[in-house]
Amino acid sequence: MFRLSRDVRFAIEPGEAPDAPAQGRNGYAGKPPVTGIGQRYYRLTVTIAGQPAADTGYVINIRTIDEAVRDRAVPMIRRAVRDAPLGGDSRGLLAGCFRTLQEGFGPLELDRLELHLSPFTRLSTTAGLIGDQDSPMVLLHHTFEFAASHRLHNPDFTDAQNQEAFGKCNNPHGHGHNYVLQVTLRGEPGPAGMVMGMDELERIVEERVIEPFDHRHLNLEVPEFRTLNPSVENIARVIFDKLQPELAQAGAVLDAVTVWETPKTWCEYRQDPS
Ligand code: NI
Repeated sequence: MFRLSRDVRFAIEPGEAPDAPAQGRNGYAGKPPVTGIGQRYYRLTVTIAGQPAADTGYVINIRTIDEAVRDRAVPMIRRAVRDAPLGGDSRGLLAGCFRTLQEGFGPLELDRLELHLSPFTRLSTTAGLIGDQDSPMVLLHHTFEFAASHRLHNPDFTDAQNQEAFGKCNNPHGHGHNYVLQVTLRGEPGPAGMVMGMDELERIVEERVIEPFDHRHLNLEVPEFRTLNPSVENIARVIFDKLQPELAQAGAVLDAVTVWETPKTWCEYRQDPS
């Protein structure tokens, strides 16, 4: 199976007609472009699953994606922004965009749709989540950062074994990373169109993760890592376990936690279905 993804970037002026003609000639920066400080900028990521055609090597021509988004999805998003500038029915909006784009793509399978509200916050849905016509679900992805130091070390290993397994990361004095944390929630959006109140989500993540982890030595100052190696894998799992109960109490389903140790290394953790 191949999955081809395409970003379509565009700006919307609150109050503009849903079917306003498409302006602009620089799809890289956004088409329609940002022409003033009162506009909103969006990015819609479209992922198509399928097999490449023998003659073109394409799963889909990316022009088809761009045109479908601009002709079918942008008017829906304009209408949603015009009708409810502070929020509204994001589930209906994503489901509507998903279905109208799927129609436009014919037999090709639309696999995932992600609406980026900022570089750090997005709503998404997938063919699996949208499949339930009555209750399509939405994912909310929100990112955070913290800086921390750690040391990768196994006290049961010899020095040579630690060196072999962890190399420079075994430095006894530790080393640091600027970690990026993405929290993904799954569920029914509320009146603002988000799966959970952002204030509450940020409060829980700040209290449970950012405050105890940020500018700390994970091995020495964070109890969970006193005997657990703070690899990016274990950090993702520890954060998941710290967040899940409190998010559940607040009525949210934690779908996944992703931690980037560097822009080149990251790990996603989600619980296996029980
Ligand atoms: Ni490291």
